[in-house]
Amino acid sequence: MIYFDNNATTPNDERVLEAMLPFMKTMYGNPSSVHRLGRIAKSAVEVAREQVAALVDVQPSQVIFTSGGTEANNLAINSAFGRVAISAVEHSSIYESAKRFVPEIIAVNRDGLCEPKTITELISKRPDFVSIMLANNETGVIQPIAEIAAQLNEHGIMFHTDAVQAVGKMPVSFKKLGVQMLSLSSHKIYGGKGAGALIVDESVSISPLFLGGGQEQNYRSGTENVAAIVGFGKAAELAKTELDARQTRMLSLRTMLENKLAQLSKVTIFAQNAPRLPNTVLFGIDGVEGEMVLLKLDQRGVCVSSGSACTSGETEPSHVLLAMGISPQQAQTAIRVSLSHQNTPAEVLEFIELITPYGV
Ligand SMILES: Cc1ncc(COP(=O)(O)O)c(C=O)c1O
Repeated sequence: MIYFDNNATTPNDERVLEAMLPFMKTMYGNPSSVHRLGRIAKSAVEVAREQVAALVDVQPSQVIFTSGGTEANNLAINSAFGRVAISAVEHSSIYESAKRFVPEIIAVNRDGLCEPKTITELISKRPDFVSIMLANNETGVIQPIAEIAAQLNEHGIMFHTDAVQAVGKMPVSFKKLGVQMLSLSSHKIYGGKGAGALIVDESVSISPLFLGGGQEQNYRSGTENVAAIVGFGKAAELAKTELDARQTRMLSLRTMLENKLAQLSKVTIFAQNAPRLPNTVLFGIDGVEGEMVLLKLDQRGVCVSSGSACTSGETEPSHVLLAMGISPQQAQTAIRVSLSHQNTPAEVLEFIELITPYGV
């Protein structure tokens, strides 16, 4: 099998599994319990908090563990107030949860980027809360979040960024970005499902989604998913120490893939000129439905996605490509390859061989 769908989810790193297993077997205590098993669980959660904090350059007290990226995004939006603005290319966990604010939609250009002049126009409408993702899950496009934050901070506008796809694929420093809230998810960084985090600045007042036992500084009640949090911590540590090697590996595979794709006459690579994650290629083959190619590849043991995995099953064209001014017909051709450092050049070559008949 060739797994090229790493933006949908990643396999568990063996070292993550090893770290998690004891907390599913013998160390099953509740972190709120005072006895020794409880204390062991509590200190494991605190180690994970330090590891996640180190990944994004914050203090451990700024990390609120959640069940994943969707909950982190919902928690951020639940803490929004007044006039809310979100970009046109956000993940559904932002645009669905922000709907209740009837948000201003921030346009992107043909490369999928929010331009400084668009942000200047936005500021003139006096928003109170803005959410723009750091890297897009479909195109891999990286927004200039630090520049946008500098503009918004001057006007005291609260700024959240969804960094779920960015961490582990590029350096992410909360401080350098200058945002007030940032979302993370464990299963996109080889850490297993069921854990994520919202990183918050001290200036932020959080409105919890769940009330109860007061875990996570009262921001997220509910007994902690200890094993998943431990896995997230280990994955964060590895994502930090191995970032350079992983980036280099992913970029060399992507360059190889894009060079081969460029030789196929009917292929268009979307947002190719924008700054992008080193692992993501979204492309289309003229006149060929992406969903059809996906199914054919699946029969040959190759896993890719057409547009966003979170919306697959729908036949609607990707809202991200539509926002970039791509026609609905062309948007339907989209096929997303999202690589991992664990992929190989041989897999890229096999993939090219399989799609070549459609692309010439
Ligand atoms: C950009 C982005 N944000 C949020 C999420 C949701 O994260 P989770 O699956 O951990 O709920 C995803 C998942 O696809 C994503 O790609």
